[in-house]
Amino acid sequence: MQTRPATLLVIFGATGDLAQRMLVPSLLGLERDGLLPDVLTILGAARTELTQEGFRDLAREQLVGHLGDDAEDCSDALDRLLARLDYKSVDLSSDASLDDFTAQVEQRRGGGDILFHLSTAPSWYSAICSGLARAGLNGENARVMMEKPIGHDLASSMDINDCIGKSFAEQQVYRVDHYLGKDGVQNLLALRFSNTFFEPLWNSQHIEQVQITVAETVGLEDRAGYYDEYGAMRDMIQNHVLQLLCLTAMEPPARFDPTAVRNEKLKVLNSLRPIAGKDTESLSVGGQYDAGAIDGKAVPGYLDELGGKSDTETFVALRAHIDNWRWSGVPFYLRTGKRLPKRLTEIYIRFRPVPHSIFHRDRASIKPNALIIRLQPEEHISLCLMNKQPGLDRDGVHLSPVTLDLDRQSAFEDVRRRLAYERLYLDAIEGNGTLFVRRDEVEAAWQWVDAIFEGWKTNGITPRKYPAGTWGPSSAVVLTERHGHSWRE
Ligand code: BG6
Repeated sequence: MQTRPATLLVIFGATGDLAQRMLVPSLLGLERDGLLPDVLTILGAARTELTQEGFRDLAREQLVGHLGDDAEDCSDALDRLLARLDYKSVDLSSDASLDDFTAQVEQRRGGGDILFHLSTAPSWYSAICSGLARAGLNGENARVMMEKPIGHDLASSMDINDCIGKSFAEQQVYRVDHYLGKDGVQNLLALRFSNTFFEPLWNSQHIEQVQITVAETVGLEDRAGYYDEYGAMRDMIQNHVLQLLCLTAMEPPARFDPTAVRNEKLKVLNSLRPIAGKDTESLSVGGQYDAGAIDGKAVPGYLDELGGKSDTETFVALRAHIDNWRWSGVPFYLRTGKRLPKRLTEIYIRFRPVPHSIFHRDRASIKPNALIIRLQPEEHISLCLMNKQPGLDRDGVHLSPVTLDLDRQSAFEDVRRRLAYERLYLDAIEGNGTLFVRRDEVEAAWQWVDAIFEGWKTNGITPRKYPAGTWGPSSAVVLTERHGHSWRE
């Protein structure tokens, strides 16, 4: 399928939180650097009745707040972006309103492709896609970008994908996992596949364990309705954490293109050993935060924030295995949670110990090498190496672990840090799906996650409480310690 840059971007849900907090600022980022096609117009759509001026005012206010001290320097770009914005209200529950809307879209389409971005609740996706198809807006020159969650489990995800599939071919569908838009996440591929010395070591012969942590300090925020229905497994593990796992574990793709990269990620998902049946108890932990303190500040428990009863997990820890030649026997510990002690996204790769120590004095103090790739809050890569302590150690060599540190902020000091959606918009506008998630990936991830829920259900496992500001329930510690490992903290 031949793609051309989009000349019309239609954002459904344009007055919503995501659009205002992330999408419009990301478009401004692209505008600042002259990366939006000259002829691109952006049509916001939502239920709210607003004029074009009203929508521009809303966006201006949001952008000025986002830019802070940079607002003055960016005023030209701001004006240019606002001049591209238009707005039309639409009631998605009414076919007539949607048809009226699509008729307007038809009139505004320029010579290039159209990109539709569905930033609404997923329950609207089918109605929107059918409406677009009714109006003939699903031809080869249309792309549709959509937010997670695609479903609540495998069955509902397949239903949504089937509905979308009736209107759009898979190559036209751009499923967002905003972690893939993060520069540090893309750097995982750069590190692995543009350096020679990682690859020979990147396997079970040399790596003892991998840990992936996505920790947040925030609680429910104002998303109680959504979050309580989804919880940490569906909100974070099914997508962001498994995508990080895929990028860490995948085989080298032949090319950096949508098919090659996504095929390799899919193989990882399909090689995940199911966590199911009676193993669920020893391989998975769910938690729910109770009242506690973060940074010395008292915070309420989940149920108090929610104002009701719930068994939704706000924390998940898993011991996963990838059953293939490369990773046989290597545990991948995954954990994510809300109200943990700090915000941290990190991949910890611990190598095997040296097979034999020639240093008699410090034999026990030789720590295995480790590679720590921190993605958030700062991007930092450390390689832990054993070194000789300087000195005339007559009683034998004294050893110490030291780290080689790469602070990406200072290494690329003059480069502006991008919002994840800048990358994602640029790619979707230009028709490059490499950093978007394919249907088979989403479904393989759901299948794996569904089995864990099934195991929880049949074994009567409910989330264990943990005080806010701690690293989850104590059973999460047992998950690693049972195997002589421990979480990196
Ligand atoms: C979203 C989840 O996808 O990712 C949120 O729905 C979570 O619950 C967020 O807070 C985390 O994203 P980031 O970019 O802040 O790590």
